[in-house]
Amino acid sequence: MTSKEIRQSFLDFFKSKQHAIVPSSPVVLPTDPTLLFTNAGMNQFKDIFLGVRESQDKRVANTQKCIRVSGKHNDLEEVGIDTYHHTFFEMLGNWSFGDYYKREAISWAWELMTEVWKLPKERLWATVYKDDDEAERLWKELTDINPAHVLRFDEKDNFWEMGETGPCGPCSEIHIDLTEDGCGPELVNAGSPEVIELWNLVFIQYNRRNDGSLEELPFKHVDTGMGFERVAAVLQGKKSNYDSDVFTPLLSKLQSLSGLAYEGEAAIAMRVIADHVRTLSIAIADGVLPSNEGRGYVLRRLLRRAVRYGRKLNFSQPFMGELLPVVEEVMGDVFPELRTNRDRVQRAIRAEEESFAATLDRGMALFDEVVAQLNAQKQTLFPGDQAFKLYDTYGFPLDLTVLMASEQQLSVDQEQFESLMEQQRERARLDRKDAVLAGDQELLQDLHAKGVRSAFTGYTALEGDTELSVIVADGAEQDALTEGQTGELILAETPFYAESGGQLSDHGIIRGPEGEFEVWDTQKPVEGIILHIGKVVQGQLRKGDHVGAMVDQSRRMHVQHHHTATHLLNAALREFVSSTVRQAGSLVAPDRLRFDFTHYEAVSAADLESIEHRVNQWIMDNTPVQTYSMAYKDVPESGIIAVFDEKYGDEVRVVDIGGFSRELCGGTHVGATGQLGFFRIVNESSVAAGIRRIEAVCGWPAYEWTQREHGLVRSLSQRFSVSADELLGRIESLVEQNKKLEKQLKQQSVASNKELAATLLTQAQQTGELTYIAATVEGQGMDGLRNLLDQVRPKFSSGAIVLGCAADGKAAFVAYVTDDWVEKGLHAGKLIGQVAKRAGGGGGGQAQKAQAGGKDPDKVPAAIEAVPQLLTEQLK
Ligand code: ALA
Repeated sequence: MTSKEIRQSFLDFFKSKQHAIVPSSPVVLPTDPTLLFTNAGMNQFKDIFLGVRESQDKRVANTQKCIRVSGKHNDLEEVGIDTYHHTFFEMLGNWSFGDYYKREAISWAWELMTEVWKLPKERLWATVYKDDDEAERLWKELTDINPAHVLRFDEKDNFWEMGETGPCGPCSEIHIDLTEDGCGPELVNAGSPEVIELWNLVFIQYNRRNDGSLEELPFKHVDTGMGFERVAAVLQGKKSNYDSDVFTPLLSKLQSLSGLAYEGEAAIAMRVIADHVRTLSIAIADGVLPSNEGRGYVLRRLLRRAVRYGRKLNFSQPFMGELLPVVEEVMGDVFPELRTNRDRVQRAIRAEEESFAATLDRGMALFDEVVAQLNAQKQTLFPGDQAFKLYDTYGFPLDLTVLMASEQQLSVDQEQFESLMEQQRERARLDRKDAVLAGDQELLQDLHAKGVRSAFTGYTALEGDTELSVIVADGAEQDALTEGQTGELILAETPFYAESGGQLSDHGIIRGPEGEFEVWDTQKPVEGIILHIGKVVQGQLRKGDHVGAMVDQSRRMHVQHHHTATHLLNAALREFVSSTVRQAGSLVAPDRLRFDFTHYEAVSAADLESIEHRVNQWIMDNTPVQTYSMAYKDVPESGIIAVFDEKYGDEVRVVDIGGFSRELCGGTHVGATGQLGFFRIVNESSVAAGIRRIEAVCGWPAYEWTQREHGLVRSLSQRFSVSADELLGRIESLVEQNKKLEKQLKQQSVASNKELAATLLTQAQQTGELTYIAATVEGQGMDGLRNLLDQVRPKFSSGAIVLGCAADGKAAFVAYVTDDWVEKGLHAGKLIGQVAKRAGGGGGGQAQKAQAGGKDPDKVPAAIEAVPQLLTEQLK
């Protein structure tokens, strides 16, 4: 059977057992922040197990895309070294949601394996959890497995948990014995490549809570998972997953690209690359991009490992792109997103490969140097500071360095590395402006625990009367704050918007019965608590005061304009650039907006124009901006834009502009788009590989920006004495004229160089047999000097020429030696090096012709004077 047929037969089997076949979820589940990547088939059903959500179907089955590179289930270190672990794999699974349980799960698994797939019964082993008598009994009662092949194991092997928290329960696994002569029980669960787990049947009955305790679930469920790549290999009679048709097309491609055979070291490299390119394709197709954080960093690490292994196959140019059509060929039918997102995957991988290639070789050179030193000193610990340098300067992820070190039988001082990382983080923390707040973090947590909260009223109000509930200053709670003192105030209710989602904070005034506090920043360092940061400008404020809070309305209004404009820009980008752009950061300020988004090339001028035009059109339509809330779980279906990696609560707020722009957003907005007045794109640029930035303005700042532009045009037309419309023509003709003049000037200088050349030839001198010219000339740069030399050479049949000049605050020299004297041992390059040294410089070149510079123009004559002596020395 081909692997495609194997997958299908699994699905067909469970269809015949009344299971609905459902699609794989993406490898990133936006609804589950506890997971970096989908790591098991059941992830998407977590809420059903926990009783939070009901499923329409009580029985489902599918093949699920899984990535295991971190956290509880992490297979990265094994990948490539062994032949049956992968960072990406497909998990075939069947599920019962409160429907069937152990009996059916076990008997169907046995039926599929032994009757449909005809795996040899005497080669199968079943394991059960140490006190799961029921499962053991069912195996013996319902199947004809050899009863001696049912083994008990403890939590480590037979109690499955999704992560630190979440659904879990005892499990029963099916292992297959691939050894030559058949194995005994001691090889089961012993990490042998010849006795491997194929299928895990989990009997979900608990929820592991935050505090570590187990909570019994209202219903019992079944969650199974079978390694598709493993079962394909076994059914195809292969000992290695990489020998099945899931991988052979990739390995063949790698062999033909590299011209190397699949054996030894090269085989490991090929396995790693084949594995990683699958993971990268799938994850990027699902919307993750390589970056420096979180999921993105996982991808970056994988890609860099793959590129480094590529060096072992002698690939020095980007090569992964060549593998992508093969990945698509193998998996495109079952995961069509590989096809629909082909461009994104291609570009992202290409950009990453190119950017790492720039530092990889230098990093490897440093690595080799350190290893050589360690070997010389017979040391085996690779220093953490060098690993850090590799990370920080050359982009080597720590795990890559660890891997490279282990190949040299070295270990890495990870503790030192971590402490350097921590220092770096600390420095970054201190740099941040909220460093002050960080010091108060504990205090704020305490206040939060005591129930202190601030209600935000600022969506509808810009002023309000309320109680001053807490005063913080110098890292402690205070009863009062007096004139001149800075501190942070917490109000029971506040219209002040705390900086978040890119929108800058509100400023304003808090006025009490005895004084006034100026707010220059508002932050929300702890959920539910809004801090007003500023200073008492008059009198004093006391805890418990009845105060009036007043937001600076003009600032807020300008910020709001730019926030709504950001949403319009986002919508227009989707229309003109790509429907797949994702927000990668934003700044919403009173005077401008900045929007970063994923895209692989500059947005063309024509597209920028269309975007600007569309946004202005929406503004003139004066569309109302509406907000409403909805359940977060309904978001994925709705097509509403959510910001990737942002954490959301159960209820989310939607900002909806005429239905064409719908985003989850907690920010403040105008009531209708007309208030934005006018929108201009000011700049488009690149911020990082795959990330573009658009800066724009609207409202008054747009007016002012346009005024400035117009002012510039006005003064240019005055300067050139033409109307604005004639400006371009005028400038073009000036440029033309300038070119002509330059040309004339050049011709003249050639002519005058001709004269100068003739004079130089008359200044030739003699030392022994050698004729030479050594002269300082005026008013030439390096180009002029070379040009002059070219004029002299044809008429100079034998000897050496050295010319020097001072121009633009620097010294410049050229040297020339005729062939006959090169043969006698003169070398222009060496000569010029010596000469230039005397004018604070250096340089060199060939034996026949050379040039050099120096930073002391005053020393040119002295350097030229030394020429006769240097020539004599060279001839000795
Ligand atoms: N969720 C189970 C596993 O991942 C089936 O092994």
